[in-house]
Amino acid sequence: MKKLFGVIGDPISHSMSPAMHNELFKIYNIDAHYQPFHVSRGNLNDAIKGFRAIGIAGFNITVPHKEAIIPLLDELDPLAEAIGAVNTVVNQEGKLIGCNTDGSGFVKGLLNQNQSINDKKVLIVGAGGAARAIYFTIAKEAPELLDICNRTPERAEQILNDCPFEVPSRVLNRQKAEESLETYDLIVQTTSIGMHPDIGQSPLSVHKLKPGAFVSDIIYNPLQTRLLKEAAVKGAGIQNGIDMFVYQGALAFEMWTGIGPDIERMRQKVLNQLGGLLC
Ligand code: ATR
Repeated sequence: MKKLFGVIGDPISHSMSPAMHNELFKIYNIDAHYQPFHVSRGNLNDAIKGFRAIGIAGFNITVPHKEAIIPLLDELDPLAEAIGAVNTVVNQEGKLIGCNTDGSGFVKGLLNQNQSINDKKVLIVGAGGAARAIYFTIAKEAPELLDICNRTPERAEQILNDCPFEVPSRVLNRQKAEESLETYDLIVQTTSIGMHPDIGQSPLSVHKLKPGAFVSDIIYNPLQTRLLKEAAVKGAGIQNGIDMFVYQGALAFEMWTGIGPDIERMRQKVLNQLGGLLC
């Protein structure tokens, strides 16, 4: 019987996950379908009950359900538990197990650009859900320094306090981060600043960027944010959010099927999908 997979969120119509996973099922000859489900906050409980009843094989969770879904699951893997958010669920013989592949997807994408972490001084810009997943996963790789800069310092403090991995780390405001930017080998931008339609904005001046630094922005629409363009002009290596998106999906696919998928095929599919959406 055809296996069912899916993604729940609100909004959901622009999700690129269905096209990406259905392409993989086709490539690997797997009799399965991946469906987007529009689920509002008030319907989350019923949606998960329905998934249990029909025996869904696995699903992704996106905004705004990544945290709210936790009490509705049977188990969490340790990283998802520490992060406090789930983006992937695996149905193991009727048990719904919550995992988080956002942070590990980000780190895999970095490694793919030949960027190591354990010898690096890192600055994360932003302290929302994405920053939290990325902070914990980078902290696990033991960088030399892992600072956070956020408009609301309390959210960044909370991440430092909750992180289960020991790492030298400070909370900075924007001005301080910009003044000491030459400290950092790797800068990770996780806020929504620079995202379509506000493409003229940047969360950070790159005036003092260290020569040879690497700047990664998790935004993929536009493919190059103002921050990435300015960093490139300063000679930095740059990366957009396509890698993180593709790798978080690849890790979920592997959990569901045991197959480590073809990353380049996934990237091409996502870029084709984005073609219709890009500003
Ligand atoms: P996500 O789960 O996608 O990371 P989020 O939890 O809403 O989304 O977090 C958004 C991040 O972008 C936060 O770091 C937010 O800063 P605050 O914690 O101060 O809210 C940041 N952000 C969004 N718009 C911003 C703006 N105009 N100026 C500065 N920071 C902004």
